[in-house]
Amino acid sequence: MITFPGEFISRLKKAKSITVLTGAGVSKESGIPTFRDAQSGLWAKYNPEELASPDAFRRNPRLVWDFYKDRRTVAEKAIPNPGHFALAKMEKLFDTFSLITQNVDGLHARAGSSSVIELHGNLHRIKCSGRCAVVGQWVDEGLAAPRCQKCGAFLRVDVVWFGESLPAAELEKAMLASQNCDVFFSIGTSGVVQPAASLGLIARDRGAVFVEINYEPSAISRLADYKIYGESGTILPQLLQALL
Ligand code: OAD
Repeated sequence: MITFPGEFISRLKKAKSITVLTGAGVSKESGIPTFRDAQSGLWAKYNPEELASPDAFRRNPRLVWDFYKDRRTVAEKAIPNPGHFALAKMEKLFDTFSLITQNVDGLHARAGSSSVIELHGNLHRIKCSGRCAVVGQWVDEGLAAPRCQKCGAFLRVDVVWFGESLPAAELEKAMLASQNCDVFFSIGTSGVVQPAASLGLIARDRGAVFVEINYEPSAISRLADYKIYGESGTILPQLLQALL
């Protein structure tokens, strides 16, 4: 059982507006690999420049399509873990609750969180890589690197690749939520990828309490007013209980 500092819980109970940023660590207990884990992390096994960039896609659309097809299969088979469910329940306890995620697996929505701000896109959507940029749900037609029916360009997964901008509307929502919260949670992220890594700093500059929940200290731990280390799937349900 975790004993949270009493002062922390009473500050949380008084908060009107909560913003949460999640990263790959939150889905780890659902069996989805993180990116920077030295052994099992995706970027320890694969070179992102060969798989997650517009250049990589131009060079070898089929390789990139297959990489994301595999990731999508893993995400489809995964089920949300107690951390996802606790966050979905927590949103009902506050006047305003914004959930920003860097994850593309869709597990927060499947756990019942509403209006998730998806900063890095979603594995289950595809879009045209050409000018028409039509976005749609992925349908498995058994094809490797299928083409857009409208313009003939290759279809691609609707996630943000290295060298690409984040979706403007989502980034705007994330900035506003970070600027206007009483408490900001950074959960399961290494805090090294921008601009997500700066959201906590923005919140803190505006006077929010910064809480980090992570397996181990991260690049942004020094900013945190409260640090809770361990697995988010264990910590978050206990935090929810402490708030009820
Ligand atoms: P990382 O792989 O960089 O970091 C995952 C963090 O989660 C690490 O700090 C781990 O210690 C922590 N962690 C692991 N298991 C955990 C658990 N059960 N509970 C809590 N924490 C745990 O993943 P992100 O920070 O999400 O971007 O990576 C950010 C971005 O880098 C990703 O969205 C992706 C990647 O390149 C794009 O693809 C655009």
